[in-house]
Amino acid sequence: MTTSRYTFWCFAPLVVAGTAASITLAGAQAPAATPLPLAAPVKPVAPAPKPAAPAGNPLQLKFATPSLQHGQQLAAQSCAGCHGAGGASTKEGVPGLAGQIPGYTQFQLTVFRAKLRPSPVMQKVAAKLSDQDIADLSAYFAAQPVGPAWKADATARSRGEKLFQGGDAARNVIACAVCHGAGGRGVAGNDVASITNLSPKYANSVLHEFRDSPGFGGLIAPEAMRIALHPLTDQDLLDVSAYISSMK
Ligand code: HEC
Ligand code: HEC
Repeated sequence: MTTSRYTFWCFAPLVVAGTAASITLAGAQAPAATPLPLAAPVKPVAPAPKPAAPAGNPLQLKFATPSLQHGQQLAAQSCAGCHGAGGASTKEGVPGLAGQIPGYTQFQLTVFRAKLRPSPVMQKVAAKLSDQDIADLSAYFAAQPVGPAWKADATARSRGEKLFQGGDAARNVIACAVCHGAGGRGVAGNDVASITNLSPKYANSVLHEFRDSPGFGGLIAPEAMRIALHPLTDQDLLDVSAYISSMK
């Protein structure tokens, strides 16, 4: 079984609705039990303790105009060791960040910090970042040249290219290029991620995280991916992974 990309598929609508109050209500407003006609009088039961309300909406950031310079400093100090200089990754298990749309990087750092995307490594890293740090890092990485392509199996790659660029109408497969663009660079205004500089192995595990999730609570960006991948087989995922890992 693969882990789901985000763990908040079940309560995402509440988080998106935005108030701590709306989150507590789910627990506090359980329907009052209707008294049953019992022979003996029953002792009143103490009400269940209220769940602690999270402080505000963990997905909402407050920041001033992002500073690329501060983003660069932070990236060199705290990220380059794993993600590579300028976010151009050369490690199989670490995604590239260079050229990523800023909204996607922001969202990922926010959900790692809120422990809503599983990753022992990144949850620790993100715990130390302020809202402003997240905005500065995201703006900095967005402005860096995309990292190198990976070597991928040629046969898988060419099957993957067909699916990516053309889809498969007979099986309801939407061409990935419709959303990600023919070059895989994503679309900032639509929250569509850039998918360059991901190794075949990492890309394949990411596609499973999206396809195999029970749902993302109606959050538009991950739901778009989950639904797009629904008709794809495991072999299709390997094929498109081979193709996208060769993009730059
Ligand atoms: C110790 C290694 C390590 C360090 C340091 C690190 N990362 Fe990561 N990062 C990872 C790994 C590994 C992943 C992939 C998720 C996973 O498997 O845990 C990741 C994932 C990410 C993602 C998600 C990318 C995507 O395509 O979904 C972002 C964004 C990110 N890191 C940003 C940062 C930033 C910004 C810093 C510095 C402040 C940083 N990382 C420091 C290892 C690291
Ligand atoms: C309907 C639009 C749409 C289609 C079609 C689509 N995607 Fe996506 N994709 C998205 C969006 C939006 C995101 C960002 C998801 C998020 O924010 O969690 C994304 C994210 C991704 C990621 C994660 C990037 C990362 O750094 O982890 C990968 C990989 C990916 N898509 C590959 C594909 C492939 C391969 C296909 C075709 C089989 C495809 N997508 C089809 C919209 C789409």
